[in-house]
Amino acid sequence: MPAVVLVGAQWGDEGKGKATDLLGGDVDYVVRYQGGNNAGHTVVIGDQKYALHLLPTGVLSPDVVPVIGNGVVIDPGVLLSEIDGLAERGINCDRLLISANAHLIMPHHKAIDKVTERYLGKSKIGTTGRGIGPTYGDKISRMGIRVQDLLDPGILGQKIEAALTEKNQILTKIYNRRGLEPAKILEEYLGYAERLRPHITDTSLVLTRALDEGKVVLLEGGQGTLLDIDHGTYPFVTSSSPTSGGACTGSGIPPNRLTRIIGILKAYTTRVGSGPFPTELLDEQGEWLRQTGGEFGVTTGRNRRCGWFDAVIARYATRINGVTDFFLTKLDVLSGLERIPVCVAYDVDGVRHDEIPMTQTEFHHAKPIYEELPGWQEDITGAKTFEDLPPNAQAYVRALEEMSGAPVSAIGVGPGRTQTLQLRSLV
Ligand code: GDP
Ligand code: IMO
Ligand code: MG
Repeated sequence: MPAVVLVGAQWGDEGKGKATDLLGGDVDYVVRYQGGNNAGHTVVIGDQKYALHLLPTGVLSPDVVPVIGNGVVIDPGVLLSEIDGLAERGINCDRLLISANAHLIMPHHKAIDKVTERYLGKSKIGTTGRGIGPTYGDKISRMGIRVQDLLDPGILGQKIEAALTEKNQILTKIYNRRGLEPAKILEEYLGYAERLRPHITDTSLVLTRALDEGKVVLLEGGQGTLLDIDHGTYPFVTSSSPTSGGACTGSGIPPNRLTRIIGILKAYTTRVGSGPFPTELLDEQGEWLRQTGGEFGVTTGRNRRCGWFDAVIARYATRINGVTDFFLTKLDVLSGLERIPVCVAYDVDGVRHDEIPMTQTEFHHAKPIYEELPGWQEDITGAKTFEDLPPNAQAYVRALEEMSGAPVSAIGVGPGRTQTLQLRSLV
């Protein structure tokens, strides 16, 4: 039965939270499959605004079971405060399931994330400082501490001790920081264990059984295609696989169960942190997009870098993820422009590239080749159907669809749950 993947098609913050929430009424499970509290997904329901970091957006739909898959890295203190924050607002998270195989973000991961960034100086990645990279690093090095270790105080103590034997050397001898105290960390994490215990389970088993029973599972990516560790703008990426392949490894659902891959695509482009961004606007037009689109980070509050739509990237996202449908967000933000430039290819040192260049150096040199599409002046935030859009807005959507290589099946015309034009069913 259907397992639907929702992936960011650009550099994150495309509106995944809103898209996942929209599907909440049609699905039984919503699964986060990678990333951690580097993510910031905003959902607006009526006059209430929610910012979710670790919790799957499904927590906001009472009939959905939210699941944190094995591919996620969990800061248990942050998770519990997110749960408590929602409880204060009347949202119950008792049904949350957490994979026993997910990895834990530990205090030394956060400390190392911050010092290594400082050490990189001008070459820094601009991470969120949440310990994401060091936690995934330890996972791959087979030194990680997992959620299931919380269930065995003896093992947890041994693993913390072993980790700090190495990490304290790094913190004190290389970075001149204070070492961390294993006993204190053990006590802190055993406290978290008590509260998390009822949620911990074999989520891969739960999800594949649910699919066998005909239930609908939605896999919600954090970050975006260009931040993928393999397929993104390395090294200016996150340390996991937000692309659709990661949905399988990060949830334990096999590839042949996936039925739809929905790419979330913003009608223009943003990015947070360092790294190449060919269509970036460093002038007043970029500032206009930032202000009009409210492009300020949900997690770190940083200004998002803004630029025009890049069709080369959208086509790449279609290819890497196997996108079957696009959810085009924030079309309303572009109202009021005379003409809207769209990047159709790059000029790299005098040579036209219709695809992302092979090397990092070439990508850093990429200059956008623009085509200009006619704009529209009308406010479209009240539109209910595609036909309600002004002809030039309709033509903009059709042009993006043509350039991006997959049909646009939904369009966002505002942040609210109801401000969506659905062109065809997504589940
Ligand atoms: P995510 O990380 O992909 O979930 O995206 P974020 O929540 O970080 O950023 C998207 C922002 O755009 C949020 O503030 C959303 O409320 C908002 N948003 C989503 N879709 C639309 C839309 O169609 N129009 C407008 N104006 N805002 C939107
Ligand atoms: P959502 O889920 C935008 C960026 C950081 C940095 C790089 C690496 O809201 O789309 P990390 O802390 O992950 O090691 O930082 O990735 N980044 C995001 N940018 N949206 C996100 O999440 C991001 N999560 C990480 O800014 O450039
Ligand atoms: Mg975000």
